[in-house]
Amino acid sequence: MCGITGYIGTDPTGRIVHEGLQNLEYRGYDSAGIALAGGGSLSVHKTGGEVGDLPVPSREDGTRGIGHTRWSTHGEPTRENAHPHTDCTGDVAVVHNGIIENYAALADELRADHVFHSDTDTEVVPHLIETHLADGVSLLTAVQRTTERLTGSYALAITAAGHDGIVVARSDSPLLLGHGDTGTFVASDATAFIEHTNRVTYLRNGDIAHLTETEWTVYNDGARVSRDIEALDWSADAAGKSGYDHYMLKEIHEQPRALRQAISGRISDLGTDVTLDMELSTETLQNVAELQIVACGTSYHAGLYAKELLETHADLPVTVHVASEYELRGGRSPKDTLVVAITQSGETADTLAALRSAAQKGAPTLALTNTLGSTVTREADDALFIRAGPEIGVAATKTFVSQVATAALLTMHIGRARNAISTSDAAALRDAIRDLPGAVQQVLDQAPEIASIAREYADSDAFFYVGRRAGRPVALESALKLKEISYDHAEGFSAGELKHGPLALVTDNTPVVAVLTEYAAPERTANNVKEVQSRGADVIGLASDAGTARHADVTITLPACGPLEPVVANVALQLFAYHIANEKGRPIDKPRNLAKSVTVE
Ligand code: F6R
Repeated sequence: MCGITGYIGTDPTGRIVHEGLQNLEYRGYDSAGIALAGGGSLSVHKTGGEVGDLPVPSREDGTRGIGHTRWSTHGEPTRENAHPHTDCTGDVAVVHNGIIENYAALADELRADHVFHSDTDTEVVPHLIETHLADGVSLLTAVQRTTERLTGSYALAITAAGHDGIVVARSDSPLLLGHGDTGTFVASDATAFIEHTNRVTYLRNGDIAHLTETEWTVYNDGARVSRDIEALDWSADAAGKSGYDHYMLKEIHEQPRALRQAISGRISDLGTDVTLDMELSTETLQNVAELQIVACGTSYHAGLYAKELLETHADLPVTVHVASEYELRGGRSPKDTLVVAITQSGETADTLAALRSAAQKGAPTLALTNTLGSTVTREADDALFIRAGPEIGVAATKTFVSQVATAALLTMHIGRARNAISTSDAAALRDAIRDLPGAVQQVLDQAPEIASIAREYADSDAFFYVGRRAGRPVALESALKLKEISYDHAEGFSAGELKHGPLALVTDNTPVVAVLTEYAAPERTANNVKEVQSRGADVIGLASDAGTARHADVTITLPACGPLEPVVANVALQLFAYHIANEKGRPIDKPRNLAKSVTVE
């Protein structure tokens, strides 16, 4: 999605803002721009193409700069619609993430005195600022008065010729400051500036900050407020490619470490105790009659896996909702319904809207997320971190496995609180959680074999994935991974559903990937394998058990991992998807039309 970066300080501003934009490219975008202001002038560079097409502005262009990568919502991805947008005087430059919902009414009002050059909702902002500046007020006051007129969501960064500093504002769209040795950074995502500083301030809704070369000041509702500085435990290295061709491949290979981080300190060496840094009381967990999960995309698939674990081991009915379709309705009363938002970014607009709907009705809420300080962590009653580390590839990989591993820990925690989990089930889950990093490593060690299977099938007409129980979310997730990075047609199904329709699509050039692991009813799925084989399709089977594996035409052998064995299968299928996409030369880290953090509903 759109990305914002900005810098004010003593280092070369143009270079820093340009690099910040390169760091944000992973989020997905279709056009970009930079504005630098210095003394009495403003210079703006925009492109309807890539960040690399923009010049690196020199120090003479200005000492304070803002930049933007745009993912189109209102208006085509053209140079005119790229940010920064300017006012009629050409002195005010604005970059914006989010959607100004009342832009049409504002534009109608402004059009009498202002000329618009784009189709965007954003352009009303510089024109509104221009009208306030004409009254002789400071840039800060002009922005404060402008935001009072806006409805919708925004993260804004503004700089202007003849006015001091950069002014930034946030409402329902993420924005944070970075505090470096040479100056202050602003960004929608710390990745933009992490090579310069890990000291950050997360702005809150309604915050407007004024950044100068020497200080930063935050206001909310017109009053000056203090905001903390936090240290992010990321390094620039953690956000780099470390020699891999793609972030996605690096992140696939990071999974054993990500999983160890997710587990570390949370599970006892002896026994089956789980210690989660959560504030939801045991009493709340005991009294809950139902758990509802809200999530999108890959996180939704993690939610389906969590349902399987929680219903089996914690005696809790669970419903999983695509967040954009959710409105709290189930539950005997909202207070008996625990609503869990699963979101790696913590910023997905649909998931946040679902969470807010649940909270408004009085349901206790929990966020399962990767991102410290994200909006979901501030809005949910409690947050449980999956500790996967930064994920730059648009296609989620390590965050998915870390979400499921953390859901397994949560299952043990809730099962214990409700006195619902048997000693043997708790021990089986504990062993699976502990074995998972090693089992994933064993799959990664088979990467060359998996790559060669992928190359063999790369030219297929379509790919179908089937599984049962926890194998089903893995089938759905693995199909999603393949389609988003290779652009091939790939669909996941419940194995039993094949004969109720999808079987009509099966031919001898549509391989079927079957999750034949433990916890996925492998023997029953093996029957469906026969159905597709008899229609000519090759079956690629994933199994730890040689007896089950024999049903497939091609087998990827997995280490056993109890209730988490389907997760191990997912890792093999991430590699399968990666190598098919790589074979086709796709832009794996930045698939067309997709974005890492989806901040519009
Ligand atoms: C696919 C993918 C998306 C996200 C979805 C939700 O690889 O990454 O489907 O899972 O956009 O994002 P989060 O988890 O940030 O809420």
